[in-house]
Amino acid sequence: MKNIIHFYFLLNIIALFLIELVYAKNGNEKINFAYKKYKKTKNKELSKKDKFYMIFVNNTSPYQKRENEVMTLNSLIDDIQDLIIDNKDTYKDPSVLEELEENGQLRKRNSGESNLVYLISSVESKSVLYAYLSPYVVNSVRELPNIIACEPNHGLQFFSYYNTRDIQLEANWKNFTIRDESDLHLSLISQGKFSDDLVNKYDTNFYYPESAGKDIDIFIIDSGFNFDYREFSNVDERIVKCGYNITNGKVYNMASTTNCHVPTIQDDHGTEVADVAAGNIHGVANKANVYGFLLNEQDMLHEADILAGLQYIKKNLFRPYKAVINLSLGGFYSLSEKYETLDYLQELITEMSNAGAVFVVAAGNEAVEAYSERYNEACYPCSFKDVICVGAIDTVGINNIEYPTWDMINTNIMKTANYVKADFSNYGQVVDIYGPGYAKVEYKTFKNKLMGGIDGGTSFSTPIIAGVAATIMSEHPKMKFTTESMLTYLTKLAEKDMIGDLTQKDHNLFINNGKHIVYSSNNIYDGCGVRSGNKMCEDACCSIDGHCTREMKSCRTDQGCQIKYGLFMTIMSPEFGRCGFGYGICPYGTCCSYDGYCGKSENYCGIGCQVDYGFCKKEYIFE
Ligand SMILES: *[C@@H]1O[C@H](CO)[C@@H](O)[C@H](O)[C@H]1NC(C)=O
Ligand SMILES: *[C@@H]1O[C@H](CO)[C@@H](O)[C@H](O)[C@H]1NC(C)=O
Ligand SMILES: *[C@@H]1O[C@H](CO)[C@@H](O)[C@H](O)[C@H]1NC(C)=O
Ligand SMILES: *[C@@H]1O[C@H](CO)[C@@H](O)[C@H](O)[C@H]1NC(C)=O
Repeated sequence: MKNIIHFYFLLNIIALFLIELVYAKNGNEKINFAYKKYKKTKNKELSKKDKFYMIFVNNTSPYQKRENEVMTLNSLIDDIQDLIIDNKDTYKDPSVLEELEENGQLRKRNSGESNLVYLISSVESKSVLYAYLSPYVVNSVRELPNIIACEPNHGLQFFSYYNTRDIQLEANWKNFTIRDESDLHLSLISQGKFSDDLVNKYDTNFYYPESAGKDIDIFIIDSGFNFDYREFSNVDERIVKCGYNITNGKVYNMASTTNCHVPTIQDDHGTEVADVAAGNIHGVANKANVYGFLLNEQDMLHEADILAGLQYIKKNLFRPYKAVINLSLGGFYSLSEKYETLDYLQELITEMSNAGAVFVVAAGNEAVEAYSERYNEACYPCSFKDVICVGAIDTVGINNIEYPTWDMINTNIMKTANYVKADFSNYGQVVDIYGPGYAKVEYKTFKNKLMGGIDGGTSFSTPIIAGVAATIMSEHPKMKFTTESMLTYLTKLAEKDMIGDLTQKDHNLFINNGKHIVYSSNNIYDGCGVRSGNKMCEDACCSIDGHCTREMKSCRTDQGCQIKYGLFMTIMSPEFGRCGFGYGICPYGTCCSYDGYCGKSENYCGIGCQVDYGFCKKEYIFE
């Protein structure tokens, strides 16, 4: 039993699989991450540069250059070729033309034999020529007789395995972005529970709202930051700064606002967690502002400095409903004692939270109950009111592996068995929600050495939740979130009752950012419903576990039959006003709320509405 307060960083690292990254001469571009953007409107202004054009020619009227001189398509080709060669200095990069020629020499040929402009297709009434044109030459070509149009390539896409309209409908994001081949800790939070008997190939995309935390401030009180790296390079759209030094209850400005360390400590913990919360490639909210507060202490954290840091934020930086505060401290206290320090800290947190700050804290890595009457101890601030306390699941499946190898850790493949509490994570009633227990990070140390790899602990599940909170706030700038209302929102969005190794007392909630559809990246599915790419059943019911069946029990609407994906057998709830598993569906025209009550207002039909047990607002809007 511990009956004194211990303050310490919750950074007793669980598994450190960090290696120094050595990049080739051309620097950072070795690891290539692709981004795709999806917008509701597409008409992008076509930039005025040299490019390939399709030249559409009218075949039905003869090509007449001069009166009485009838010419063929070949003479048109010759004329365009001459225009190109005669105006080659209007090209930004004429070498593209030379590459089109066999020996690099631009050469005027006759009778339609040019390598610079050639026929690619024709139908009876029209022909299509293809040529690389400068803006000047395009205009000249357009003036030639019989030219119907000159158009550049618009760009096609392979049809994707995901359905952008379904995603838009479900998540209700204004615009959204897809980060291809993203880290496991990211792809996991933008899809529901993955199960390899429903989905053939795990989808590694991270889908998130384009607002991505824009205009939201994430405050990190931690032990060392280096923001001088591409993970934080988009300073044209956000503020990223450290430069606040907390010493003996006072906050001082530092000389640098990008590389902030206590020379004798030189720890990178702050940089790593900031990367997971808000880094460009490894972070959740890559447009959020990041403020790093440096704790100037060695072994023990001083409560006074935490109070001073929060006070400073409250007085100087705090913007109501725009602040996500992550407390980088933790410890245990004895339940039978009273500590004025803790009471005061609680009061300060509650006051700031009510004024519009969202507090996110880690549950800790001691593998114990975070609040235990039996052992007369509790972890704080996890057990406080007005904080969102975050536990971790074992996303990489190393609970049971004694000597995990780099390869085991590093494979971006989720197994159903891995949705279990991480063996290090604290748990219990005060833990509000769980996130991925391991994250991939990439950062520069205080000495500008490049490091990367997988790191674990509730220190990493926490900034993931902080990042999701920031994206929700940036998507809904008019909603006035406090810690409490954010927790309710996250609870509604969360994937429920799927984490193994938790007890009845635990909140069985896994973080989700609003997109639950689970896609298979090779488009092969073995099931139906939301966890199987929204696939329908033909002449059968889609059971709660995502299989098409005609078994009576699975078709009942009180047994979780997925009513939108096949047949179903209506069972009305025997208890008036209740709905959900074990109850059944709501009366026609009403919605089933996330916690199982029927009604018609936003509370029932909005976020968290259970689609399998009644109407949801979207059906009203899009019908
Ligand atoms: C969504 O994207 C379109 C096209 O870029 C843009 O015009 C629009 O302002 C965006 N909407 C929001 C809410 O960002
Ligand atoms: C092609 O030329 C014919 C004859 O001059 C004309 O009737 C027709 O509208 C033209 N077609 C196009 C697509 O411009
Ligand atoms: C922080 O401020 C204190 C007090 O001014 C100073 O002694 C200390 O060197 C500063 N630390 C850093 C890392 O700037
Ligand atoms: C958030 O706070 C926890 C401790 O409560 C810490 O371990 C983690 O590093 C912090 N994360 C960020 C982003 O500050």
